Amino acid sequence: MPGGNTRHSVFFPPYPLYAVRGKGSRIWDADGVERIDCMNNYSSLIHGHGHPAVLEAVARQAADVISVALPTEQEIELAELLVERLDALEQVRFCNSGTEAVLFAIKAARAHTGRPIIAKVEGAYHGSAETASVSSSPSPAKWGRADAPASVPGLGCGPGVAADVIVLPMNDVENGRRILREHADRLAGVLVDPLVKNLGFMPVTTAFLAMIREEIDRCGALLIFDEVYSLRLGFHGAHAVLGERPDIIALGKIIGGGLPIGAVGGRADIMTELFDPRSGARLAHAGTFNANPLTMAAGLAAMRQFDEAAFSRLAALGQRLRNGLNEALRISGRPGVVTGATSLAGFFLIDRPIATYRDLVALMGADPGVARRSEALFRHLLNHGVLMIAQGFFALSTATTESDVDHVSDAVLSGLRSLPA
Ligand SMILES: Cc1ncc(COP(=O)(O)O)c(C=O)c1O
Repeated sequence: MPGGNTRHSVFFPPYPLYAVRGKGSRIWDADGVERIDCMNNYSSLIHGHGHPAVLEAVARQAADVISVALPTEQEIELAELLVERLDALEQVRFCNSGTEAVLFAIKAARAHTGRPIIAKVEGAYHGSAETASVSSSPSPAKWGRADAPASVPGLGCGPGVAADVIVLPMNDVENGRRILREHADRLAGVLVDPLVKNLGFMPVTTAFLAMIREEIDRCGALLIFDEVYSLRLGFHGAHAVLGERPDIIALGKIIGGGLPIGAVGGRADIMTELFDPRSGARLAHAGTFNANPLTMAAGLAAMRQFDEAAFSRLAALGQRLRNGLNEALRISGRPGVVTGATSLAGFFLIDRPIATYRDLVALMGADPGVARRSEALFRHLLNHGVLMIAQGFFALSTATTESDVDHVSDAVLSGLRSLPA
């Protein structure tokens, strides 16, 4: 395997840790070292490792049928749970990853409107599908003007991809409105992540969202929410917290109970028109492992356990962590910014908050020490029993305890103190 593994986000030099076993909030590596897992597989393990209800559901399902090209009851039950819980999800279809969910959300917007263009925010990550990956991390040499960002396709994307994507500066109401209006007659949809992870869990502002809603209502385009990550923001979905009703929602991560999953859903009229075989099924939606029974069983068990009480307890733990991180900054006197909400925390060793992707790039370029200090802190935490997301994030699980959180805050404080000036 190039680099010795299969996922570049988990690589760090000289080689990543290799996992052997997980239990609750803990993960053990191949050297037998135990750590508090604050990655939780990039936020997808909402109950940490080996939750008894999830294990039992998977074992029971494995004994019945692992894989089959027929629908199952588990699929119906998970769909019902999601549709009942998430305000704007009137109908849903399953797939195998968040990347696929966003891919189908984009296809649905294009198929429903008959238009080609998708708008997205500069610097926002939406998975690896070609359209979605445009300008997720563009280089300054290619990104164009700040008030009219260029569409920069990722390496390996077809040259035509950029033509069908327009790029909005994050939370910039005035320029965003102008860009959307310029393309209004060809606009299929606007893809929005309510909490942009790659911008340090930056929330989309209500003014920006209101502008997008106004503009798409004027031109008949659709609002697509990517809640693959940000579903953690609200028990009834991030859109419910924001008081918005997206036309299409992409889901993934926690709804699979730790197994591979994606889901696309939203307005019943759109879903029926495009995905219901009885109405002509205009949009081809195949996939050998769609709604595979093991994932459905695991997702159902996990989401049932993740009730409102569990959601609130986890959000309080997240707040405890954000408080601890702020306190560590205060005591150590180190510059840093703490972001995030509910069970998510971002921790960046920068000396002022950023507002856009370009701010982040400029700041990192002006002070190479930020990247060095961040890496040193990541390694300090690894050596003090904590696995965080190397890019500066923590995603807690219901298996996390208050003493785990306090251990993480203490390790961050000792790490900050040990950093070179
Ligand atoms: C906002 C967002 N969208 C889409 C994806 C892609 O999901 P997956 O990794 O399951 O393909 C991710 C993954 O981190 C994500 O954070």
